[in-house]
Amino acid sequence: MKPVKVGLLGLGTVGTGVVRIVEGHQVDLESQVGSPIVIEKVLVQNKSKARSINIDQDKLTEDPWEIIHNPDIDVVVEVMGGIEQTKDYILEALARGKHVVTANKDLMALHGPEILAKAQEQQCDVLYEASVAGGIPIIRTLIEGFSSDRITKIMGIVNGTTNYILTKMSQEGAAYAEVLKEAQELGYAEADPTSDVEGLDAARKMTILGTLGFRANVALEDVDVRGISSVSREDIAYGKRLGYEVKLLGIAERQDDFISVSVQPTMVRNTHPIAGVNGVFNAVYVYGEAVGETMFYGAGAGELPTATSIVADLVAVVKNLKLGVNGKQVMMTYKEKKLKTDEQ
Ligand code: NAP
Ligand code: HSE
Repeated sequence: MKPVKVGLLGLGTVGTGVVRIVEGHQVDLESQVGSPIVIEKVLVQNKSKARSINIDQDKLTEDPWEIIHNPDIDVVVEVMGGIEQTKDYILEALARGKHVVTANKDLMALHGPEILAKAQEQQCDVLYEASVAGGIPIIRTLIEGFSSDRITKIMGIVNGTTNYILTKMSQEGAAYAEVLKEAQELGYAEADPTSDVEGLDAARKMTILGTLGFRANVALEDVDVRGISSVSREDIAYGKRLGYEVKLLGIAERQDDFISVSVQPTMVRNTHPIAGVNGVFNAVYVYGEAVGETMFYGAGAGELPTATSIVADLVAVVKNLKLGVNGKQVMMTYKEKKLKTDEQ
């Protein structure tokens, strides 16, 4: 069978995990899709940098067009991060008929509708499961698993870095700055960790979850955001004494046609399952009118959990290729939503 050729944009934490899984699970992947999946070319910033995996040096490039304009490449996997430049690369890849898999919530929260419209026009897939909650398949679950229901609440811990910091502060009395550094070293934090600690990363993820879950146009500027940088060890210790854990919670709610979305540090009663979600783990609670309560739990960041979602998307793209049904993914443009205001 003809191999499916992948161009990887980025070989950092997530890109390295993608190479490990594609190579390590090759036999199993091929048995599902009927073709070998080959990482053909990898974009990096600096080819001379030391890497934690062995990779054929000839595969590395510092020139994005060697991937995007390469007629042999079928799928572009974007794990480099960034917004405007990355958007240009993805739109150009789509213009050339390539399918795209991305972990980039910053990009999808801001430009998702435009990118998905281009994909539909080109009959290409753009899949982005890894953009929310790392290894938890929550996007697929909202689109497919709950297609029959009307979701009224999505609530959760959707940032691994801040949950790691809050857990260490709560359980070990660790200092904020010290634990943030650890989270960066473990590859959990964003290139600029301000977006983690100030709640922007979680807000971007809640924009995506709210849009898909409520089938409404939720925009990033609609999310009311507060991060954890002003939460002290004393606040956490005080909450604990009263029977609460401090968690950075994203909450999206719908009442009739009114939607509200927020991200804020919240005192969670220690008997609630969300209070027991620790370290880099994420959890997403979804309430549907018919199904009632459900909750999804797993690693929210890190090399292999995130790469699991990327490679699952890659498998989905290849299955679609075999069936000739690429470009049929759900658009992120739904009916206009009404925002809940203080008067309502
Ligand atoms: P990272 O470790 O910083 O890796 C970024 C990679 O992209 C590096 O290999 C870097 O090259 C390359 N790169 C960056 N900018 C580039 C440019 N302008 N041109 C060429 N190459 C460039 O980042 P990461 O943690 O893997 O995250 C990647 C993406 O996944 C981000 O969108 C992030 O939000 C998302 N994500 C991350 C996680 C996680 O747990 N880390 C989880 C879910 C989603 P060099 O290696 O040469 O520096
Ligand atoms: N920085 C993000 C987090 C990576 O800590 O959750 C996963 O999206």
